[in-house]
Amino acid sequence: MQHQRVLVLDFGGQYNQLIARRVRDLKVYCDLKPCDMTAEEIKAYDPIGIIFTGGPNSVYDANSPHVSEEIFKLGIPVLGICYGCQLIAYTLGGKVEHAPASEYGKREFSFVKDSPISEGIPKTSVCWMSHTDHVTQVPAGFETLAETASCPVTVYGCEERKIYGIQFHPEVVHSEYGNRMLENFLYRVCNARGDWTMKNFVEEQVASIKEKIGDKKVLCAMSGGVDSAVAATLIHRAVGNRLTCVFVDHGLLRKYEAEEVMEVFKDKLGMNLIKADAGERFLKKLEKVSDPEKKRKIIGAEFIKVFEVEAKKIGAVDFLVQGTIYPDVIESGKGKSAVIKSHHNVGGLPSVVDFKEIIEPLRDLFKDEVRRVGTELGLPENVVQRQPFPGPGLAIRIMGEVTREKLETLRDADYIFREEIAKAGLNREIWQYFAVITNSKTVGVQGDFRTYENVIALRAVTSVDAMTADWARIPFDVLERISNRITNEVKHANRIVYDITSKPPATIEWE
Ligand code: XMP
Repeated sequence: MQHQRVLVLDFGGQYNQLIARRVRDLKVYCDLKPCDMTAEEIKAYDPIGIIFTGGPNSVYDANSPHVSEEIFKLGIPVLGICYGCQLIAYTLGGKVEHAPASEYGKREFSFVKDSPISEGIPKTSVCWMSHTDHVTQVPAGFETLAETASCPVTVYGCEERKIYGIQFHPEVVHSEYGNRMLENFLYRVCNARGDWTMKNFVEEQVASIKEKIGDKKVLCAMSGGVDSAVAATLIHRAVGNRLTCVFVDHGLLRKYEAEEVMEVFKDKLGMNLIKADAGERFLKKLEKVSDPEKKRKIIGAEFIKVFEVEAKKIGAVDFLVQGTIYPDVIESGKGKSAVIKSHHNVGGLPSVVDFKEIIEPLRDLFKDEVRRVGTELGLPENVVQRQPFPGPGLAIRIMGEVTREKLETLRDADYIFREEIAKAGLNREIWQYFAVITNSKTVGVQGDFRTYENVIALRAVTSVDAMTADWARIPFDVLERISNRITNEVKHANRIVYDITSKPPATIEWE
């Protein structure tokens, strides 16, 4: 079945993926596409509505992205947000001007006229502004629908042409009724059916994977992470034991993690899951290596070698599963950026597997949708809500050389940290939280004896996409409990510090 789709045209704003996620949460499928799509391409895509996102430009900048007036003649409803709102006014003959002062943050706004966009919303509420320019005159045939004390045209539109502009950001949580406005646009302007649900997604995918794979063979590299776990479970649901999963245990996982993977996927779900115990091999390769980039490269290369050995045993397969998700496939149009860290993930695998085709069952999904599909498939909470974990594992959370003893200390400290965060009910709001073993030793006193042991750092951050992050404001009493427990229960740790650096300038991981 073809889902109804909304087209979100990306003008480079920072909340663009968030807009797309909000639309999907409202049960309407949407794609985020570059803003230079032509009217013809849009027509061929056949959306039920178009959303222009915000962006950093002014419509008057020499290189600012513009759109053709033809788009507005397609008869498809359009909603412009922030820059998108200004662009619609500018393109259709309204007036956009530099505001006397930029507006950032929370503002009260009031509707001055009812419209489908304002249904069910109080006359006055709070919105989130972030702009320098604003619309001062609406195009002919349009009406001002809302205003703030300093922004004369906060919402405007034309009911007949189904075109609307919102100056603020309805997609951010600080806009009290923002989500309702998006819902109104989708359901009262675009006549959405609401056919995008994870239950539908699972049913459709299982049917189409069954048809595609038939009685052929599939191979999947399972990392224990959410994406590969959900991808594998979806395929397993469709084709059962025609799927073989290989799980490389590089010995750098967190406490009990490898056991949990085996228990959930092999014992409970009955998957054909092979575990390669390669801990010793990785430790040997990492001996005396302390440079972060060298560690990363060694682990990436070794992982591929171990996987290759297992893949050879299995022989030729028809399909190789990849856990690619939607943010990986969105064309961002951003320039080439400096390499900060060489990431290790399973992207390098295809070259060592004898396969015919790659299958990516999650390539249309955002991360939160992947988690919901996991829940729909019956995966346990600890798998579905697992925090991001780097491919090189604990090796990049041990500063300097990785040793067996340090791994053990780190695992135990990290386990306590996770346990206490969960007990305090903070595990959902913190993006990532983990322990790091620093390469400093300090003097302490434990049981009247002098100790000279490791300093353990705790790292916990809030984030929406890991591109930027802030340190989590964990209550002091929770930090106190964690510190007491680690210094009491973990060997070779006598001092705990809390990392209070945001990203940038730091990164989330320490190496
Ligand atoms: P940084 O440390 O660069 O991390 O702020 C950003 C996010 O990426 C994760 N990370 C990795 N993920 N392979 C991965 O799959 C890697 O090599 C890797 N290194 C960092 C990190 O945990 C955070 O979520």
